[in-house]
Amino acid sequence: MNYKKLDKSTVLDYISDVKSVMNYFGQDELQADEIGDGNLNYVYKITSLQDPKKALILKQAVPYLRCVGEEFPLGRERMNYEIRALQKFYAIFPSFVPKVHHANEDMSLVIMEYLDSHIIMRKGLLNKVEYKNFSEQMSTFMAATLFYTSSLHLSSSDKRALIDRFNSNVELCKLSEDLVFSFAFMEHETNINTKDDECAKKLFLDVEFKEKILELKYKFMTQNDALLHGDLHTGSIMINDSETCVIDPEFAFVGPFGFDIGVLLANLVSSYVYHSVVTKDDAYKEWLLLSIKEFLSKFQAKFLNFWSESASSALLVDGYLDNATIELYKVKFIKEIFRDSVGFAACELSRRVYGVAGVEEIRGIEDVNLRAEAEGIVLKIAREFLMSYKNIQNCDEILEIVKDAR
Ligand SMILES: Nc1ncnc2c1ncn2[C@@H]1O[C@H](COP(=O)(O)OP(=O)(O)OP(=O)(O)O)[C@@H](O)[C@H]1O
Ligand SMILES: [Mg+2]
Repeated sequence: MNYKKLDKSTVLDYISDVKSVMNYFGQDELQADEIGDGNLNYVYKITSLQDPKKALILKQAVPYLRCVGEEFPLGRERMNYEIRALQKFYAIFPSFVPKVHHANEDMSLVIMEYLDSHIIMRKGLLNKVEYKNFSEQMSTFMAATLFYTSSLHLSSSDKRALIDRFNSNVELCKLSEDLVFSFAFMEHETNINTKDDECAKKLFLDVEFKEKILELKYKFMTQNDALLHGDLHTGSIMINDSETCVIDPEFAFVGPFGFDIGVLLANLVSSYVYHSVVTKDDAYKEWLLLSIKEFLSKFQAKFLNFWSESASSALLVDGYLDNATIELYKVKFIKEIFRDSVGFAACELSRRVYGVAGVEEIRGIEDVNLRAEAEGIVLKIAREFLMSYKNIQNCDEILEIVKDAR
């Protein structure tokens, strides 16, 4: 099938030929509305007029950056990786991603479950919603998807097949290499608010800081540990009181264990900084710290648990080491993942200050003085994370750095 960009009306023509979707809606009359507030793609909600509770999402990639237009080309192949990652994550743990009803790589589109009672987590955090299941559910999702797509579980050939299936996501990986690890730390035309900013000048000249960023960029470029979401900020999580769902894995690739955890950690810390500076709500700040701690510690425990349940793998061949040595090895291994996460969190935190893609918690602060205060705190935390990530021992040390930053 040749690629064609759909619109509100051709979306309905398209699905009329898709059996699985027509089975879902039966004979109902349908309506399509464009709902996407994202930067990259078109997102339509298709609803039954007879039963508005029946709805699906159709997401299509266009061969350019949607929010800029055709003058900013970006390969629509990114949808192939989003489809593959949604399917892979669903196969590992179906409750944490929307179910795919139909996918078409030629048309760069996916039709998936509409999450009707969830909201984007970032919005909920800004509004001080406490999600009691978040740390339990996200730690399960991340421990399972990272463990079961790694060489700690897969055979050598399956792991290489996984890399083949995902690591040609070259354009989006390059975008991260540039935006997460490079441009935001140097004079660059894509940066925001750097002109005459003394803190920006200082950051761009901070060689010690920039060398540490390079260490993590190198890991990002070369370490093929496990299948990552690739952009797991709180805008890629849809959540409600009882459920947590991950969407938008178009940056998926097989990369370092610590990257997704670090990105999520950084976004939770950004929320903490926002509430420190803007709402000054101590109870909510405490909840955020507790969630960070629970998320990180549960992740480690669950990852080790999956490992202990797993039979021998490409890495730990039966009979190679005695059990006591293996247990010590595993504890050392998970600590390294944790430390790298802190390093990646530093990259994600600091790139959001001057880089092109800001986060609402910081860039969205309207009062210039408060925004500058928040940016200063974010950069301070990021610097401390970066300088100490290789020696961090436990979650409490992270929380101390976050709490002490002024
Ligand atoms: N399965 C879903 N159920 C309900 N709403 C959804 C679903 N998928 C996406 N959305 C809504 O559409 C918005 C845009 O989706 P998404 O983030 O996947 O698009 P994108 O173009 O890739 O965005 P970005 O610029 O963040 O990359 C989401 O913020 C969410 O509000
Ligand atoms: Mg996206």
